[in-house]
Amino acid sequence: MITVAVLGAAGRMGTHVVNAVGAAPDLELVAALDHSDDVAQAARAGAQVAVDFTVPTATEANVHALIDLGINAVVGTTGWTEESLLRVEEHLRERPELGVLIAPNFALSAVLSMRFAAAAARYFESVEVVELHHPDKVDAPSGTAVHTARGIAAARAAAGIAASPDATTHDPDGARGAVIDGVHVHAVRLRGLVAHEEVLLGNPGEQLTIRTDSFDRVSFMPGVLLGVREVVRRPGLAVGLDSYMDL
Ligand SMILES: NC(=O)c1ccc[n+]([C@@H]2O[C@H](COP(=O)([O-])OP(=O)(O)OC[C@H]3O[C@@H](n4cnc5c(N)ncnc54)[C@H](O)[C@@H]3O)[C@@H](O)[C@H]2O)c1
Repeated sequence: MITVAVLGAAGRMGTHVVNAVGAAPDLELVAALDHSDDVAQAARAGAQVAVDFTVPTATEANVHALIDLGINAVVGTTGWTEESLLRVEEHLRERPELGVLIAPNFALSAVLSMRFAAAAARYFESVEVVELHHPDKVDAPSGTAVHTARGIAAARAAAGIAASPDATTHDPDGARGAVIDGVHVHAVRLRGLVAHEEVLLGNPGEQLTIRTDSFDRVSFMPGVLLGVREVVRRPGLAVGLDSYMDL
């Protein structure tokens, strides 16, 4: 039995995590904390793992507090930078038995899609990314699309593949989309959608489409539970759920 605390338990994601942990036979929810609670309550309740879905301004301080308390952390909150990740990595050296997983996307379909796209990228002449989201999303392109494009670009660079062919010389309105590390990324905002992404890979006479669809926040829960089960036996900092997935 792994004992679990949830930070941000009253939030949209936190509510789902509380339910998912409560329903898992091998996990026990021992603390459900939100912004007015002291993180130390997680230790007093005997939590081995804390799941953080709070806010970007709070998450780093939470993780450092958890490390001091001797609690492993699974973090879905956004806003992490190279510098803040480095600070966690350094702090963990004082507690080499602890694990921290920071994952910008817990949807297994999205994580796999990014990995499949990077694996396929060098076999195709052309590649573009289309991300499609609900119209209440404030940032574009999505963090996942940026991550996808970077993974594709790195795989193509490592294999010595030239840029995707494109004869466009006139595009005053930006119809060719954003360009992330040389990969074109297009953002669609449409009522009725949740979170979706397509990677289009083209060669003469053939196309591969890799598509991922998140229809509901429950789509993140299998990944969160995987993180909780693995973090207790993987000391150190892991960034991205794929590092736990033996892909
Ligand atoms: N990694 C992923 O797969 C994934 C998926 C969805 C959302 N997110 C991210 O997760 C975060 C939470 O998203 P949400 O939609 O649940 O937000 P939300 O606003 O619904 O919930 C955040 C909760 O955190 C609480 N909170 C704020 N400060 C706190 C603190 N110091 N300690 C404890 N609780 C605190 C708030 O009161 C609120 O209940 C965001 O950063 C979001 O971008 C990540």
